[in-house]
Amino acid sequence: MSPRLQTFLLCFLLLYVSALVDGLGGGQEEEECAELNNTTWTEYRQHRSKLQVQYLLLTRTSLDCAQRFSQESLSKHNSHFNVSRPTKVIVHGYRALGSKPSWVKELGRALLRAQDVNVLVVDWIYGASFAYNLVVENYKEVALQISVLINQLQKHGCKLESFHFIGVSLGAHVAGFVGTLFEGKIGRITGLDPAGPMFKGSDTFDRLDPSDAQFVDAIHTDSDYFGISIPVGHVDFFLNGGKDQTGCARSRFPSILVYFPVYGYVICDHMRALHVYMSALNGSCPLVGIPCSTYEDFLDGDCVHCDVFKGTCPVIGLSKNSGIAETSPIPKEQKVFLLTTSSPPFCAHHILLQLEVSPLDKSAEVEVTLMTENLGTEQRLRLRTDTTVYRTVLAHPLALCEISSISLKNTGARFYRQAEIHVRSVCVSEFPSIRREDPLCVNNFIVRRGSPWSHDFVQVCGFY
Ligand SMILES: *[C@@H]1O[C@H](CO)[C@@H](O)[C@H](O)[C@H]1NC(C)=O
Ligand SMILES: *[C@@H]1O[C@H](CO)[C@@H](O)[C@H](O)[C@H]1NC(C)=O
Ligand SMILES: *[C@@H]1O[C@H](CO)[C@@H](O)[C@H](O)[C@H]1NC(C)=O
Ligand SMILES: *[C@@H]1O[C@H](CO)[C@@H](O)[C@H](O)[C@H]1NC(C)=O
Repeated sequence: MSPRLQTFLLCFLLLYVSALVDGLGGGQEEEECAELNNTTWTEYRQHRSKLQVQYLLLTRTSLDCAQRFSQESLSKHNSHFNVSRPTKVIVHGYRALGSKPSWVKELGRALLRAQDVNVLVVDWIYGASFAYNLVVENYKEVALQISVLINQLQKHGCKLESFHFIGVSLGAHVAGFVGTLFEGKIGRITGLDPAGPMFKGSDTFDRLDPSDAQFVDAIHTDSDYFGISIPVGHVDFFLNGGKDQTGCARSRFPSILVYFPVYGYVICDHMRALHVYMSALNGSCPLVGIPCSTYEDFLDGDCVHCDVFKGTCPVIGLSKNSGIAETSPIPKEQKVFLLTTSSPPFCAHHILLQLEVSPLDKSAEVEVTLMTENLGTEQRLRLRTDTTVYRTVLAHPLALCEISSISLKNTGARFYRQAEIHVRSVCVSEFPSIRREDPLCVNNFIVRRGSPWSHDFVQVCGFY
């Protein structure tokens, strides 16, 4: 154990004991369904010193009615907690207004549909509400209290590797600190847009990092505001570049506005990680990430395979190590990129568009449209005089084999742009390639201003 960790543990020993005493106080028998707490500003000011962490248990047999859970529950007969099953621990994040998170039940259900597990919900509303800077002071103590519970569960036969923490925003760092306390022996931590403000510059002791569990994955959706921009896991999924999400209104508010009701509107990007994760648990389609050093390189089509992971591409969801090949050690802080659509189930197909033209005298602009029935995907390309080959990646809602036509429009301005573009070839292919399809190509045609060119593909989606 590092000296730093020792000092930390000593400092918190007193709080630790008082928290335990608090916990023992309210342990009466209860049969009615437990709820997450909520707090108001006045109430919060009266109880400021207490964290009042409580745990709710959801299992397949108590899907609709959460049970309150504490270490005493283990010796009771009516608890649905099963020590021989793995345990998912849900940790919410900052609650600007002291309200209970509305998504907890849906996440619990999605987890239970996917696996027969114990789902423990950590309710730390009292410590997580209102002033963000105070919340950031609380999160380690919450982690410490959770670790007391995990210790007890271990004594009853739960294995550390059977725990999987799912932390949302600040909850990801709570989970990370629980991981630090168990020196990385916890099975897995998933961070859903791990919080950025006050964490980006902090060292790995204070934030989620790959050493916190045997496997750490994270989904980044708002790394320019509430999320963290650096990789914090073994595999870090950056959705649409990790900053702005499709279908979320663009906002350029400073993050100070976090204290005001406009919060709900501003956090669309931030909460997208959670919604995409829940959708992935539902399993209707795979959300596959491609390793690449930057989003720009990814969009330029420079990264189309998963060689860093021995050819297996990481997938968002519950598969072991996000589905990547077993290697030792597992690569870490790997940024992987994917494009999504704007609504559930969010999956998009990555199409690489390659265009080669004859040298141009003037610059030009073309609009490329891929169509599947009435679903179209458009991409604008600026063509220059100094190069003839262009590559770009676009997100199409359906697979390559379902694309029925491609069209190109020469949209350049009338006088100073190239009037006729001689296209040597235009090709589309899907990656990462699952079916080993050949790219669809059309060669040798001219696109004139004012007369769009289009080509129908005759293809069938075969079974391979
Ligand atoms: C939290 O909610 C439970 C109901 O689930 C209630 O019994 C308990 O008193 C609440 N805790 C606080 C501190 O209000
Ligand atoms: C807060 O919780 C109490 C019971 O714990 C409930 O009666 C009340 O409706 C809740 N308020 C909100 C805004 O959820
Ligand atoms: C606990 O889980 C194990 C493994 O899934 C199962 O075999 C056993 O029946 C469960 N026990 C109870 C009491 O449900
Ligand atoms: C997951 O599936 C359930 C049941 O089909 C549905 O009610 C829920 O909205 C789905 N959630 C997401 C995020 O797709």
